[in-house]
Amino acid sequence: MYKEFFGLRANPFNVNPDPRYLFLTRHTEEALACLTYGIQSRKGFVLLTGEVGTGKTTLINKLLEWLRAQQVPTAFIFNSRMNVPQFLDYMMADFGIPCDTRSKSQILLLLYNWLLERYRAGETAALADEVLEEIRMMTNLETFTEKLLQIVLVGQTELEQKLKRPNLRQLRQRLTLRAKTHPLTLEETKSYIQQRLRIAGSNGQAIFDAESLTSIHRYSSGIPRVVNLICEHCLVSAFVDQQKKVASSIVDAVARDFDLGDNHSAIAPPQPQAPDKFDLMDALKTISNLAERLKESESDVTKEGKL
Ligand SMILES: Nc1ncnc2c1ncn2[C@@H]1O[C@H](COP(=O)(O)OP(=O)(O)OP(=O)(O)O)[C@@H](O)[C@H]1O
Ligand SMILES: [Mg+2]
Repeated sequence: MYKEFFGLRANPFNVNPDPRYLFLTRHTEEALACLTYGIQSRKGFVLLTGEVGTGKTTLINKLLEWLRAQQVPTAFIFNSRMNVPQFLDYMMADFGIPCDTRSKSQILLLLYNWLLERYRAGETAALADEVLEEIRMMTNLETFTEKLLQIVLVGQTELEQKLKRPNLRQLRQRLTLRAKTHPLTLEETKSYIQQRLRIAGSNGQAIFDAESLTSIHRYSSGIPRVVNLICEHCLVSAFVDQQKKVASSIVDAVARDFDLGDNHSAIAPPQPQAPDKFDLMDALKTISNLAERLKESESDVTKEGKL
């Protein structure tokens, strides 16, 4: 509703993880480089962690864009509350593997053949997962992942703690590449807001004054999702008051409405843990069983000299 008033084409502070708005800080660039390197060099697993709302999904969407541009098949599993059949269905659909059977073994066979085909063709595949909490990977999964499937594990910082559990040490040892997202500094927050306004069509007219920008950084602790929420509400308020510029009093009022003191937890609570996390673990174990079969086929491929 305020777009015209501020001379914008789009809503600049949408909370969707839209990669068109990706703002590259030094940390973001490093994380993206780490993810692309991990996939290109077939590391098998790459870990991406970061506080709530610091841009993990946005970064993954950028990565998916890059992979799709190179015609690399991908599956993005963002819901850990799936049971094994749902997980397999979802993965097959997202990879685009035609599948008209409900039988688990048939599905796995289709996946297996498809992966092997891609492998022979020299392609790679990426599976990104948003909320993996506990994964016990079997040693034999190594062959499977490093050669065929590149997995990006994505989670909030609690995931790092979980990975320290003794029963996950096999997986931990193989997570040699770790990328992180971080909150924005004050200067980055200012540039982040300007960039979003620019992409949304702003003609460069300063909508937030310097004091407002400083306040937004303080109330948001530099968490991009909270920055977006504050900015969005500031624009609405300023529009209602027919003010072309957002004064810091508006920022203060928005922060009060959202009960934002010096912390942002009021509007960005930590994600609750998935109660049925073991379902996804089971699903991953199911896939890992394929590794046994792959080992045999892999030696066949080598014999065929197609590697
Ligand atoms: N580097 C960035 N560039 C542009 N926008 C960003 C960036 N980081 C975060 N955002 C914006 O902040 C919001 C939250 O980002 P995102 O959903 O990617 O965070 P997240 O780390 O995945 O959060 P969660 O831990 O809740 O899953 C989105 O609107 C997103 O567009
Ligand atoms: Mg996310």
